[in-house]
Amino acid sequence: MTRATKYDVKDFSLSAEGKRRILWADHDMPVLQQVRERFAREKPLKGRRMSACLHVTAETANLCRTLQAGGADLVLCASNPLSTQDDVAASLVKDFGTKVYAIRGENRKTYYDHIAAACKHRPSITMDDGADLVNALHGSFARFADNIVASMEETTTGVMRLRAMAQGGVLKFPVIAVNDAATKHLFDNRYGTGQSTIDGIIRATDFLLAGKSVVVAGYGWCGRGVSTRARGAGANVIICEVDPVRALEAVMDGFRVMPIRDAARVGDLFITVSGSVNVIDAPHFRLMKDGAIVANSGHFNVELNLTALRRLARKVIRGVRRGVDEYVLAGGRRIFLLGEGRLVNLACAEGHPASVMDMSFATQALTTEYAIRNAGKLAAGVHEVPKQIDSWVARLKLKSMGIEIDKLTGEQKKYLASFHMGT
Ligand SMILES: NC(=O)c1ccc[n+]([C@@H]2O[C@H](COP(=O)([O-])OP(=O)(O)OC[C@H]3O[C@@H](n4cnc5c(N)ncnc54)[C@H](O)[C@@H]3O)[C@@H](O)[C@H]2O)c1
Repeated sequence: MTRATKYDVKDFSLSAEGKRRILWADHDMPVLQQVRERFAREKPLKGRRMSACLHVTAETANLCRTLQAGGADLVLCASNPLSTQDDVAASLVKDFGTKVYAIRGENRKTYYDHIAAACKHRPSITMDDGADLVNALHGSFARFADNIVASMEETTTGVMRLRAMAQGGVLKFPVIAVNDAATKHLFDNRYGTGQSTIDGIIRATDFLLAGKSVVVAGYGWCGRGVSTRARGAGANVIICEVDPVRALEAVMDGFRVMPIRDAARVGDLFITVSGSVNVIDAPHFRLMKDGAIVANSGHFNVELNLTALRRLARKVIRGVRRGVDEYVLAGGRRIFLLGEGRLVNLACAEGHPASVMDMSFATQALTTEYAIRNAGKLAAGVHEVPKQIDSWVARLKLKSMGIEIDKLTGEQKKYLASFHMGT
C-alpha cells in the first residue's frame, strides 16, 4: 500500500519498528483476522468515509487494517494525548495507507486540531473511545453531523457521556455502545485493564506489590481486574466505592473496603478506575504517606484533582523516572504521580494485550458492519450491540484457543423452554 496523502505523525523513521509491533500483535488477534479476511472478500464498508478517534496502538492498527480491508476510507486520530505509539502511527501511514493524525504528548491544541481533521474527513461512520469525536460533531463541527449514519463507542466513560446527551435530547445520530457488549467489557475492562494497569505501574516505578497496601477506587469491571491482579501479586488491596452493591461484592470477594479519607492514610499505591471526578482530592493528598504513588487508569485524568495537587506542592520535579513526576509537599512529604494522571496502562505501558483487544475490536468491526447494514433504520440514541455478535466473537475466540464446549440437547432445550417438565 502507498503512503497516505494526509497525516500528521511524529517520525517516519520509526515505521519499521511500528510495523513489527503491529504484526506481532496480529498473531494474538485471530478473531479479528477472520473478520478481516471476510471483509476483504465482501467489502461491506465499501465507499464509506470513516473517522476513528482511538488510542493509537498496535492493536488499533489491526482494527484499522480490518476496516480498510472492508473498503472504508479511514482517518484515525488519538483519543488521548499520551496514548499514541508513534512507531505504530508512522507505520499505519507508510505501510497501510491510513490517514493518521496523532503524536504522543501532543498539546491540547494539536489534540483538538487532530479531532478537527477527523471531522473534516466528512465521515458517515465514526468510532470513539471517550466520545470526543461525537462531541466535536455536536459542537464546532455540527455541520457534519447530518452525514453520520452511526457511531461506535469503545469505553464506559464515552457511553456515560453519550447516554447523558441522549437523555438531554441533544444526541443527533445513533450510537452503538460497544463497551457494553459482553465480549468487550467482561474481558477488555477486567482482564485487559487489570493486567496492563499493573504493567504500567511496574514499568514506571519498579514497584514491588507484595506486602504493600494498594488502594483501588472503583470496583467496576476495571477495578475488579486491577484489584484481583494486585492481590495475586501479594498486595493488601483496599477498595473504595460509592455503590453499596459493588462495595458489598468487594467485601465478599475478600477485600477491605473503606472510604477514601481512611484509605488515604494507609495506601502505598493509589489507582483510580471509577470514571468519576476528583475521587482523590486535596484532603486525601494531604493525608498520604511520604512516597505514596498515585496513578489513574480511568478514561480521563480528572479522577485525580491535579490542580489541587499542584497547589499543595512546594516543588514539582518532572521525570524523576520516565513517566514519574515528584510532588514535594509541605514538610518534604513526596507524592509520585504516574503518567501525568492519564491512563497509566497506555501512558506508561503498551495498553491492553492484543489477545483481549482481539475481542473488543472484532466486536467493533462487526458492529460497524451491522450499523452500515442498518443505515437509516436506527434512531438517534444509544443502542446495544446485537447479541449474535457477542456469541459469534466468543465462539471464535474459544475455537482459536482450542477449547470446545457442550451443546444443549433437544431435551435440554425443551426443558429450559417449558414450565411443565421435570419439577
Ligand atoms: N485504562 C483503560 O485502558 C480503560 C479500559 C476500559 C475502561 N476504562 C475506563 O475506566 C473507567 C472505569 O470503567 P469500568 O468499566 O470499570 O466502569 P464501571 O462503571 O463498571 O465501574 C466504575 C465504578 O466506580 C465506582 N465509582 C464511581 N465514583 C466513585 C468514587 N467517587 N469513589 C469510588 N468509586 C466510585 C462506581 O460505583 C462503579 O462501581 C472508565 O472511565 C472507563 O472509560 C479504562
